[in-house]
Amino acid sequence: MNRRRRIYEGKGKILYEGPEPGTLIQHFKDDATAFNNKKHAIVDGKGVLNNRISEFVFTHLNEIGIPTHFIRRMNMREQLIREVEVIPIEVVVRNVAAGSIATRLGLDEGTQLPRSIIEFYYKNDELGDPMVAEEHITAFGWATPQELDDMMALAIRVNDFLCGLFLGVGIRLVDFKIECGRLFEGDMMRIVVADEISPDSCRLWDIETNEKMDKDRFRRDLGGMLEAYQEVAKRLGILNEND
Ligand code: C5P
Repeated sequence: MNRRRRIYEGKGKILYEGPEPGTLIQHFKDDATAFNNKKHAIVDGKGVLNNRISEFVFTHLNEIGIPTHFIRRMNMREQLIREVEVIPIEVVVRNVAAGSIATRLGLDEGTQLPRSIIEFYYKNDELGDPMVAEEHITAFGWATPQELDDMMALAIRVNDFLCGLFLGVGIRLVDFKIECGRLFEGDMMRIVVADEISPDSCRLWDIETNEKMDKDRFRRDLGGMLEAYQEVAKRLGILNEND
């Protein structure tokens, strides 16, 4: 029986009370959702893969001094994380035009952007996560100007790291989303990367064929979502050829 206290349940994850104060357990579900939950399916094994891929990325981020909430993976579906106060802003970094920027600005999907572009979206399901400007974020007090600076600096460092990581295994990082949180340690507070980084939150294209290896396989009914996530994990050396 599961006696742990459930703190929060989202579309793809559940947060439970952790074993020590200031910790939580992040549980990865198999639910795939898109278009603000209008499309939903269960993809057996997706949670296990995202747990492993996100563990891999966050472990490396911690190692190179990019602070995150991640402590360690506990089992196939769960990881131990530090409790943070999540900032209600999704930070999207784009290297190549795809998805909503391609639609909004009439760009051909696949067009290299003149430089990496950072966008912000207000996390609010009822409003469908609208895009917001820095002005909105500071005026409504979702983050202070300093916190916003810290979030942008983190996003740029994560982009640099992920671009290199994926390029090394033949994958183009088109775009991705991160979430940030306030981590309180005594009198100190710092902004850290929270949530997950996985093919659910990135656009990943094969460098040779441009084949999509991310959640767009689900969003666009392309099929082969789990196989694509497995391929990402294999290339990163997380799974063996036989897994
Ligand atoms: O849909 P859009 O093009 O704005 O998405 C940009 C990037 O942010 C994509 O990699 C997408 O997977 C990610 N994203 C996300 N969660 C959202 C919205 C976008 O992970 N709620």
